[in-house]
Amino acid sequence: MIKMVGKNSTKLKNMKGITLLSLGIAAIFATAITSCNNQTSNNTMEVKKGITKAAFGNADGKEVFLYTLTNAKGTQVKISTYGGVVTSWVSADKNDKKSSIVLGFDSLSGYLAKPPYFGAIIGRYGNRIAKGKFKIDTTTYTLATNNGLNHLHGGNKGFDKVIWDATTENDSVPALKLSYLSKDGEEGYPGNLTVDVLYTLTDDDELKIEYNASTDKPTVINLTNHSYFNLTGDVTNTILNHQLQIDADNYTPVDTTLIPTGEISPVKNTPFDFTSATKIGLRIDSVKGGYDHNFVLNKKDSSLTKVATLTEETTGRKLEVFTMEPGLQFYSGNFLNGTIKTSDGKAINLHTGLCLETQHFPDSPNQPKFPSTLLVPGQKYHTVTVYKLSVNK
Ligand code: BGC
Repeated sequence: MIKMVGKNSTKLKNMKGITLLSLGIAAIFATAITSCNNQTSNNTMEVKKGITKAAFGNADGKEVFLYTLTNAKGTQVKISTYGGVVTSWVSADKNDKKSSIVLGFDSLSGYLAKPPYFGAIIGRYGNRIAKGKFKIDTTTYTLATNNGLNHLHGGNKGFDKVIWDATTENDSVPALKLSYLSKDGEEGYPGNLTVDVLYTLTDDDELKIEYNASTDKPTVINLTNHSYFNLTGDVTNTILNHQLQIDADNYTPVDTTLIPTGEISPVKNTPFDFTSATKIGLRIDSVKGGYDHNFVLNKKDSSLTKVATLTEETTGRKLEVFTMEPGLQFYSGNFLNGTIKTSDGKAINLHTGLCLETQHFPDSPNQPKFPSTLLVPGQKYHTVTVYKLSVNK
């Protein structure tokens, strides 16, 4: 049965309805404005168990997102779709004090100011290619020269400055898959290169980075990650008291423009001997400019092998590096000079972060004696690196 209501009462009800509706709309606007102002905190949503996604700003007219992977121990790794950058890796030290072991910024603007590759995926080619030129068969390719006369880390707009597509996975642990199509001719490289990078955070505090790529024309490739580690978790400390061990009896000496001379030289009786754990600051002054060298790893095949260990006494932190790659670039943050500031205003000074970049050797496309970085159609590029963090209490 339909209940009849009087004319006036209908009017009143309508007015009430309008008022409620206006209040509702106002509330929605207010929420929208607050969340715009506070994107990184209010905009966060859980996309899978242990994975949240938040707006991180805009670049190249596209939205950028920041994903947070959290494991069972409460360790958190944040990764941006801009550059595939690991912006922070927060874990507890031996005193249960939480801090980030990598240098990074809280907002996208920090990255848009082009810090030297902080935390980023590097491609197509990690490190330098002499004079930005290389040959495949009889064709010479000319790349962007963005480091004096040389090509560095993929050129003017390498993989560290592009926006990656993201998908998430959680089979048993949180993972973020980033994908990018680097078009034929990008930065001078031949071939459409399809790349994906899978970041996984295990419950053992391992950050596993799996790189896959394929091409439709012969090209060269050397992907890595450029995280700057500081195990003290405090950028006001240098990394000079960290102890480093690298399983490498040889390294590749460089010329004044940091291009390998082509020699493979023994580290024995040189400041490059890290075959046993050694304090980084001990001999750094005898290496002009500081460490920025490729170590020829002793491993004999492309299996995933432990190649380096970094420790820091005051926090008890230990970082072990496992890789399938034949080389490791140990870079002691020699070009950090205090001009870049953290999001909370601290100067990022000389040697306050160090990189352990797993890779093929620099300038391999021009060095016939180095392991090849050629990728041809039909071949799958696949390489894995794991950074494993632990604490000695
Ligand atoms: C290179 C350095 C370079 C740095 C940029 C390192 O991988 O080896 O020479 O200056 O990246 O931050």
